[in-house]
Amino acid sequence: MTLVRPWIALGVVGMAAALPADAQVPALGMDSSYGCTVCHAEHRRAFFTGVHAERGIRCHDCHGGNPTALERPAAHTGRFLGHPTKRQIATLCASCHSDPDRMRQYGLPTGQLAELHTSRHGQLLERGNPDAPTCTDCHESHLIRRTTDARSNTHPLNIPVLCARCHTDRTLMGKYGLRTNEFAEFAASAHGVALFQQENFAAPTCVGCHGSHSALPPGLTQVTDVCGHCHTLVRDAFARGPHGPVAARGAMQGCLACHGNHATVVVPSDSLAETCTRCHAAGTAQATLGVQLEERLVRAEGELHEAEAAIASLVRAGRDVVDARLRLRTARTAYLQIAQVEHSLDLDALDDLGLVVATATQAIGAAEESALEQRWEHKLLLVPVWFLALAVVVLAWFRLSEAQRPAGPEGRSR
Ligand code: HEC
Ligand code: HEC
Ligand code: HEC
Ligand code: HEC
Ligand code: HEC
Ligand code: HEC
Ligand code: HEC
Ligand code: HEC
Ligand code: HEC
Repeated sequence: MTLVRPWIALGVVGMAAALPADAQVPALGMDSSYGCTVCHAEHRRAFFTGVHAERGIRCHDCHGGNPTALERPAAHTGRFLGHPTKRQIATLCASCHSDPDRMRQYGLPTGQLAELHTSRHGQLLERGNPDAPTCTDCHESHLIRRTTDARSNTHPLNIPVLCARCHTDRTLMGKYGLRTNEFAEFAASAHGVALFQQENFAAPTCVGCHGSHSALPPGLTQVTDVCGHCHTLVRDAFARGPHGPVAARGAMQGCLACHGNHATVVVPSDSLAETCTRCHAAGTAQATLGVQLEERLVRAEGELHEAEAAIASLVRAGRDVVDARLRLRTARTAYLQIAQVEHSLDLDALDDLGLVVATATQAIGAAEESALEQRWEHKLLLVPVWFLALAVVVLAWFRLSEAQRPAGPEGRSR
C-alpha cells in the first residue's frame, strides 16, 4: 500500500470520504420502530448515504431478522445472516444484481457474478479462498455508491487505487507469483498521466484493459484487439502491415513489444529503428526498413518544428499568421496520421503523407522568407532617407562652423 498513499494524500482519490453527520442523514421512513437502526447507528449512517437506501432497500433485505423487534435476540432471529462468508456475499448481492427483472428499470447490466466466475478472482472465490475479492471488497458493504459518483471506489479515477489495495501487497501477491508494480508503472505511463493529470476518462484504468468483473490478463493473441478497441486507426494500420497476421497467431507480442503494458510509453520518433532491432538483426531487410521509416518520421517532425519557428518569427515581425497557422494545422494532422500509418510499415503511404507535411511547411517557410526579404527592402528604402538626413546634418555643421570663424582681415588690422 505504500505506493498508493501519496495518491491518497494528493487527494487524487476520495475513497475515505467522511460520513455525514447524523442530522444530514434523511430519515427515509426509518423511525424508532425500526429496531436494526436503533441499535446500529454507525451502519445506519453509512448505509443511508449509499445507493441502496435511495431505492428503499432496508437492513433486513440483506440480513434477514426481525426489524420490528427492539431486543437483540428477538431481532437477530429467523433467517438471520450475521457474518456472511465471501461466497455468501457474492450470492447475496447477485440475488438482486443477477436478476434482469429487478435491474431492468435501472438500466444496470446483470452479468457481474457470471463474469466474476470467469476471472482468476472468481475461481479463487469458488474455492473458498479468503484472499479472493468478493463484491464488498471492491464496493464496500454499506457505503455502496454509483460508479459515476466521484466518492465511489469504482469511479474511474479511483479504480487503479482500488485494485492496488491488493495488487501492491507483496505478501499477498507473492503467494500467487504475481508482481506488485502494476500500479506504479501505470500511474507514470501515458495512460496514467492522461487519467490522473488530465482527467481524460477515455484513457483506460485497470479495467479498460482487464475488464472489471472478468479481470484477466489479455492473452498474447488478444492484446492487439484490447489496445485496438480504443486505438482503432493504429490497430487498422497494424493489421494491414506484415506484423498484423504475425501478432494474430501469437508469434509476436504485438503492441506490447514496443509500448509495454502497464508502463505504456510513447516511442520517440528517432527510436523507431531501435525497436526493430529488438527482433530483427541489424542489416536485415526488416531492420533497414526500420531505418527508412525512422528517416521519414524524423524528417516530418523536423519540418514541423521549423514551421513552428517560422511562425514565431513572423509574429515577431508583426505579420499576419492566420494562413500560416492553418497550414501548420494541416501539417500536424498529416503528422498524426503518419504516427498511425507508420504501424503498417508501408513506406509509400508514409511518403504520401510526408509530402503533405512538406508542402504545408514549405509554404510557411516561404512566407517567412518573403517577410525577411521585405524587411531588407524596407531597410534599403531607408538608405536615401538616411543619406539625406546625414547631408542635412553635415551642411548644418558647416554653416555653424562658418558662422563661428573669427572675422576677416579687416578685423585683424584693427
Ligand atoms: C437491541 C439492539 C439490537 C437490535 C434491535 C439489532 N441488533 Fe444487530 N447487533 C446488536 C449487537 C449488540 C451486536 C453485536 C455487536 C458486536 O459484536 O460488535 C449486533 C450484531 C449484529 C450483526 C453482526 C453479526 C453478529 O451476529 O454479531 C449484524 C449483521 C446485525 N447485528 C444486524 C442487525 C439487523 C439486520 C437488525 C435488525 C433486523 C439488528 N441487527 C437489530 C444489537 C442489536
Ligand atoms: C445490500 C446488502 C446489505 C444491507 C442492505 C445491509 N447490510 Fe449489513 N452487511 C452486509 C454484508 C455483505 C456484510 C458483511 C461485510 C463483510 O464481511 O465484509 C454486512 C455486515 C454487517 C454487520 C457486521 C459487520 C460489521 O460491519 O460490523 C453489521 C452490524 C451490519 N451489517 C448491520 C447492518 C445494518 C444495521 C443495516 C441497515 C442500516 C445493514 N447492515 C444493511 C450487507 C448489507
Ligand atoms: C475486483 C473488484 C470487483 C469485484 C470483486 C466486484 N466488482 Fe462490481 N465493479 C467493479 C468495478 C471496477 C466497476 C466499475 C466498472 C466500470 O466502470 O467499467 C464495477 C461495477 C459494478 C456495478 C455497476 C454496473 C456495472 O456492471 O458496471 C455493479 C452493479 C456491480 N459492480 C456489482 C457487483 C457485484 C454484485 C459483485 C459481486 C458478484 C461485484 N460487483 C464484484 C469492481 C468489482
Ligand atoms: C435487494 C436487492 C439488492 C441487493 C441484495 C443488492 N443490491 Fe445493489 N442495487 C440494487 C438497486 C435497486 C440498486 C440501484 C440502482 C440505481 O438506482 O441505479 C443497486 C445499485 C448498486 C450499485 C450501484 C450501481 C451503479 O449505478 O453504478 C452497486 C455498485 C451495487 N448495487 C452493489 C451491490 C453489492 C456489492 C451488493 C451486495 C453487498 C448489492 N448491491 C446488493 C439492489 C440490490
Ligand atoms: C481483495 C484483493 C484483490 C483486489 C481488490 C483485486 N485483486 Fe486482482 N487478484 C487478487 C488475487 C489474490 C489474485 C490471484 C488469483 C490467482 O492467481 O489465483 C488476483 C489476480 C488478478 C489477475 C490475474 C493475474 C494472473 O496473471 O493470474 C488480474 C488481471 C487481476 N487480479 C486484476 C485486478 C484488477 C483489475 C483489480 C481491480 C478492479 C483487482 N485485480 C483487484 C486479489 C485482488
Ligand atoms: C493498457 C492496458 C493495461 C492497463 C491499463 C493495465 N493492464 Fe494489467 N496487463 C495488461 C496486459 C496486456 C497484461 C499481460 C502482460 C503480458 O502478457 O505480458 C497485463 C497483466 C497484468 C497482471 C498479471 C501479470 C503481472 O503483471 O503480474 C496483473 C496482476 C495486472 N495486469 C494488473 C493490473 C492493474 C492492477 C492495473 C491498474 C493499476 C492494470 N493491470 C492496468 C494490460 C493492462
Ligand atoms: C480504454 C481505451 C484505451 C485502451 C484500452 C488503450 N488505450 Fe492507449 N490511450 C488511450 C487514451 C485516451 C490515450 C491518451 C491520448 C492522448 O492523450 O493523446 C492513450 C495514449 C496512448 C499512448 C500515447 C500516445 C501519445 O501520443 O501520447 C500509447 C503509446 C498508447 N496509448 C498505447 C496503448 C497500448 C499499447 C494499449 C494496449 C496495451 C492501449 N494503449 C490501450 C486509450 C486507450
Ligand atoms: C515495432 C514497434 C511498434 C509496435 C509493434 C507498435 N507501435 Fe505504436 N508506435 C511506435 C512508434 C515508433 C511510434 C511513434 C511514432 C511517432 O513518433 O510519430 C508509435 C506511436 C503510437 C501511438 C501514438 C500515435 C498517435 O496516434 O498519436 C499509439 C496510440 C500507438 N503507437 C499504439 C500502438 C498500438 C495500439 C499498437 C498495436 C496495435 C502499436 N502501437 C504497436 C512503435 C510501435
Ligand atoms: C517483437 C518482435 C518484433 C519487432 C519489435 C519487430 N518485428 Fe518485424 N517481425 C517479427 C516477426 C516475428 C515477424 C514474422 C517473421 C516470419 O514470419 O518469418 C516479423 C515480420 C516482419 C516483416 C515481414 C517480412 C518477413 O520476414 O516476413 C517486416 C517487413 C518487418 N517485420 C519489419 C519490421 C520493422 C520495420 C520493425 C520496426 C519498426 C519490426 N519489424 C519490429 C517480429 C518483430
